[in-house]
Amino acid sequence: MVAEGPQRRRLRLPEGYDPARHGEALRSWVRQQLGPSWALEMVDLVAGVAYARRQVEVTELEAADGSAERMEVRLASGTRPSDAERVAARLEDQHPGWTMTAFDPWLGRAELAKVPDGHRRVRAAVATALGVKPWDVGVEARPGGGYRLRLPASYMPSRHDDRLDEVATSVIGSLGWYVEADPPHLRAEVIPGDPPTFPAVLPYPFGALSETMRLSVGHCLGRSGAELGPEVALDLEANPHALVSGTTGSGKSVALWAIIGGALRAGWQVAIVDGPKGGVDFAAFQPACFAWGDSLERAAEVVKAVYEEGRSRKQALKASGARRWHDMAPGHRPPPLMLVVDELTSLIIPEPVPKGVPKDHPLVVEASERNLAKAEILSALGKIARELRYVGVSLVGATQKASTATGIPTELRDNMGAHFLLGLRPSESQRRLALTHPETVPEVPAHLAEDVAASRGVGVYELDGAPPGVLKVYWATPEDYMAHAR
Ligand SMILES: Nc1ncnc2c1ncn2[C@@H]1O[C@H](COP(=O)(O)OP(=O)(O)OP(=O)(O)O)[C@@H](O)[C@H]1O
Ligand SMILES: [Mg+2]
Repeated sequence: MVAEGPQRRRLRLPEGYDPARHGEALRSWVRQQLGPSWALEMVDLVAGVAYARRQVEVTELEAADGSAERMEVRLASGTRPSDAERVAARLEDQHPGWTMTAFDPWLGRAELAKVPDGHRRVRAAVATALGVKPWDVGVEARPGGGYRLRLPASYMPSRHDDRLDEVATSVIGSLGWYVEADPPHLRAEVIPGDPPTFPAVLPYPFGALSETMRLSVGHCLGRSGAELGPEVALDLEANPHALVSGTTGSGKSVALWAIIGGALRAGWQVAIVDGPKGGVDFAAFQPACFAWGDSLERAAEVVKAVYEEGRSRKQALKASGARRWHDMAPGHRPPPLMLVVDELTSLIIPEPVPKGVPKDHPLVVEASERNLAKAEILSALGKIARELRYVGVSLVGATQKASTATGIPTELRDNMGAHFLLGLRPSESQRRLALTHPETVPEVPAHLAEDVAASRGVGVYELDGAPPGVLKVYWATPEDYMAHAR
């Protein structure tokens, strides 16, 4: 039996009541006679009665002049958190044009407001991104464009900021829009902006102080418009080795210039190896170099010499009792040493030895000798990357990789902790070869890739201890760098 009470009324059905024909009329009669908070609950045709139930009680309209933007609703006692969807649907149905903007069953209240359609869409998108209900998020217009958000208590910057940025750029606005959050106050602003881009040239910051173990490479893409992101630098104390990959003409050699230039400026010893091209891209650096390898044979010698130098440093380090090179007293340690290898792949991938030719034929002898030199280079590079991590020796390589077959061994790549992949539209397989975690590294945005000037020297990076991103490499010529070498 259904009990009557302050929240429930029993109604006698008129003679000849037919639910199919009179149901709608009865429902509106209930609302008109008992008030908008009442709804038909059930009809008992056998007993000839119907029950109406008081769902909610509208107790307060904030503005009395009829232009109310907000009203407060008292929830029926016993309303539970899980009733939110149902209550919202009913309230919004009973008050067309109004939206439930707060739901607090513990305090027995809800709130309705007139929310413009655009704001409802923003609210839904933000709520989905944060994994909450739409009424847990507040939206209002932001002076100057965009939106102001009230965030739920469950908001956590580390978990939600990426998702909010995604909503800002892909649902609410477009590329270049961004979110500025104020976590302590649970507030955020969604701010409109133009798609982020780079200038045609990013001059190397010769005016900035040089730090020995932190070498500037370029700038990260900003959030919006021409605003630059933070500087991207190699932290060679945290990770002494780096690998620059990219297709031909993508800016690998220019990136090596920046690293070599920074190293010379900071007082490093630099050894340069570039067999295939005979060192033409680096000729201007030669006078400042500790060692120079512009042929395969010389390259093998230089790489082995650097390894031997590193080993003797390791002995000295041991004898000094220090754990790492930079823990040694400055007067008692040699300057850090950087081995730069351009066109790395062609120095380590063996070439085919002609088949069906006598073993002592000059062609076979020559190929075998070259392959021996390559094997020595690969072995020494592997040992430098693996064994000489904290002795003040850095290995910086550049490579153009076309396929897995010509890629550098995964172990060597992973030991060269900092990864740059220059170029605008690398294939999936290039990304897999160049990066350890390609799935976490963003891609160069299409609008930037299409801009010939802005996209020169642009690519992506993956560094230890910093989020991956899109960067543009600094520009200066080897002569500029030489003018600033120590
Ligand atoms: N950071 C940059 N800023 C401006 N222009 C750049 C930048 N990097 C590269 N360029 C332009 O692109 C050209 C090619 O660059 P670079 O020689 O470094 O490419 P690469 O990847 O070494 O090519 P390759 O595979 O042929 O050696 C440069 O001569 C320069 O004009
Ligand atoms: Mg090059």
